[in-house]
Amino acid sequence: MNSFPTALGLSAEQTEHAIRCAGRAPSLHNRQPWRFRLAEHVIEVHADPQRRLPATDPDDRELRLACGAALLNLRLALQHAGVRPVVDPPSRMGPPTVLAEVRSGGWSAQTPVERALYEAIPRRRTNRRPFQETPVPSGDRHALVSAAQREQGWLHLLPRSELDRFAEMVQRAHRVQMEDERFRAEFERWTGRSRETREGVPAAASGPQPEPQDLWVVRDFSSGTASERVAGKDFEREPLLAVLCSQHDGRADDVLAGQAMQRVLLTACVHGLSASLLSQVVEVPETREELRSLLGGSQHPQAVLRFGYGSPTPETPRREPTDLLLD
Ligand SMILES: Cc1cc2nc3c(=O)[nH]c(=O)nc-3n(C[C@H](O)[C@H](O)[C@H](O)COP(=O)(O)O)c2cc1C
Repeated sequence: MNSFPTALGLSAEQTEHAIRCAGRAPSLHNRQPWRFRLAEHVIEVHADPQRRLPATDPDDRELRLACGAALLNLRLALQHAGVRPVVDPPSRMGPPTVLAEVRSGGWSAQTPVERALYEAIPRRRTNRRPFQETPVPSGDRHALVSAAQREQGWLHLLPRSELDRFAEMVQRAHRVQMEDERFRAEFERWTGRSRETREGVPAAASGPQPEPQDLWVVRDFSSGTASERVAGKDFEREPLLAVLCSQHDGRADDVLAGQAMQRVLLTACVHGLSASLLSQVVEVPETREELRSLLGGSQHPQAVLRFGYGSPTPETPRREPTDLLLD
C-alpha cells in the first residue's frame, strides 16, 4: 500500500504523482531547490535554502524561477487529477521559505490545452545541442508568446537585427563569470556529473564542447568529456532567442515568471520544439541591466531561452518525491 501523505482530497498515488511532476521542473544546475509541505487542505511550495547557488544566483532569483516552474507543473498535475488549483501568495505569518500555497477550488475537468501541457512534463528537457537551421514558423512563435502572457509574463523574441549585440553581451557576461573563482567552483561542482547522480547536470546532458566560432552556447556542461565537434555540426547561425520578462522585480514576480517560463517551455515541447537556457546575461547584473535597456527599460529580464529543432537528448535525473517533503 502507498503510504505517501495525501492532500486536497487526492489519493496517496495521485498526491505522490503530483509532487513527482512538480519535481520534474527545470532548475539552475539541476539543484531542485524546492520542497513541499502537504496538509489536508493545502500544498505549500517552499524554497529550499540548502540548495542555493550563492555565487551564481546571490539573490535567489533563479531559485524562485525554478520553484515557479515546479508550481506550474504541480498545477497541471492537479488539474489532471480533476482538482482546480487556487494559488495564493504565502500568508505573512508563515516561514519565509514559503513561496505559494495551493488549495482546491473544487473539481473540474482538464482542458485539451492543459492536458497537452501536462503530457509534455516528462518529455520536456533542456537541449544543449546544435539545432537545425530551419526557422520556427510564425504560428509556433505566436504560441510561445501567448503562453508567457497566460501567466502574466512577456516573451520578447529577439529580431535578427539584435542578435549581434546580444552575442557580444553573452560573451562579455561569460567572461565575467569565468573570471570569478566562486562561480567556477559552483559550476564545476554541479555539472559534468555521472549518470547515476540524482542532482546536478550529468555530462550526458551536455552539448558538444564549446569552440571559438560559437557565439551563444558557450558553457561546457561536460567537464571537458564531450566528444569533439563533427564537421558541419556547428550551432545554428541564427537561433530563435527569446527573453522572458516580468513586469516587476520582486520575490512574487520571480515565482510568476517561473510559471510563465515553464508554460513557454512546455508549449515549445507540445509544438515539437527543443529549448535551452542561456543565463549568463541575466545572471551578471551589468548585462542584465543592459538587456533591460535594450528591451525598452520597462520590463525585467528573467530568463533567456533558445528554441529550435534539435536531436534527442537524455533525461536529467531527479530526486524521489519522498525526498521533497517537509514535515
Ligand atoms: C533559472 C534557470 C537557469 C538555467 N540556466 C541554464 C544555462 O545557462 N545553461 C544551460 O545549459 N541550462 C540552464 N538551465 C537548465 C538546467 O540546467 C536544467 O533545467 C537542469 O539541468 C534539469 O534538466 P532538464 O531541464 O533537462 O530537466 C537553467 C534552468 C533554470 C531553471
